Amino acid sequence: MRLTLVQSKPQLGDVAANLAAIRSVVEDVEFDFLVLPELFATGYFFHELRQVQELSEPVPDGPTTRFLIDQAAAHAGYICAGLVERGDGGQLYNSALLVGPTGLIGCYRKLHLFFEEKLWFAPGEGPLQVYDLGIARVGMMICFDWRYPETARILALRGAQILLHPANLVEPYCQDAMVTRCLENRVFAATANRIGTDTKPNGASLTFTGRSQVVSPQGVALCQASEDGPAVLSVDITPEEADDKQVTEYNHLLRDRRTELYDPIIGKTTQ
Ligand code: ACM
Repeated sequence: MRLTLVQSKPQLGDVAANLAAIRSVVEDVEFDFLVLPELFATGYFFHELRQVQELSEPVPDGPTTRFLIDQAAAHAGYICAGLVERGDGGQLYNSALLVGPTGLIGCYRKLHLFFEEKLWFAPGEGPLQVYDLGIARVGMMICFDWRYPETARILALRGAQILLHPANLVEPYCQDAMVTRCLENRVFAATANRIGTDTKPNGASLTFTGRSQVVSPQGVALCQASEDGPAVLSVDITPEEADDKQVTEYNHLLRDRRTELYDPIIGKTTQ
């Protein structure tokens, strides 16, 4: 199957322009699966709560969800992309959608919020879910979720072959860390990151680190974009490669875990 990533530079607050830019860059691209960055339609470094509220959308009845479903239908493929979701009670989530040609398949609310996201968003309640689409079994995680290896592990334990990973990375470590996540779990990971610098009126700024990539279950980066340019990257993968968890004839990656010793990992830390 053909897996495609878009690395873009969203304009903060300009949803129409950001959707139009994505429509234009993928117009002639054939894909089975497309991954777009976290918050690709709104931008990331918000100035105030009111702005985030104004940019938020209900799912599935908002313009970004409709755009993604239209694009999935036009390309006869699946898409995973991030957006500001407005929940039923008005609470805001940093979410990722999974859509296909016939509509919305799943919505994942980011579990591990980064930096000022904590001012705007409620953390997701889970569960971490795997979707069997026939062409692949996929799970979603968003950006900073990479810092918590449990996220990728749980998706792998639930059978994911591909980790779909919309991102707006500002730290430089994640791209290398995702190589480790793939080795730890023998899964593919598709990280679609953004580029550019967002500056607030008070002068605070964030620079995003690009280097969108697809990593194989063997920990090989099958493609990687530059750190500062827009990109559309495609790679052909065989998702079933992720089903082989036998590291040597003696070592099975998941069955050899010593879960009887792992209690501290599932307990809340007191420090
Ligand atoms: C991030 O989670 N957007 C760094």
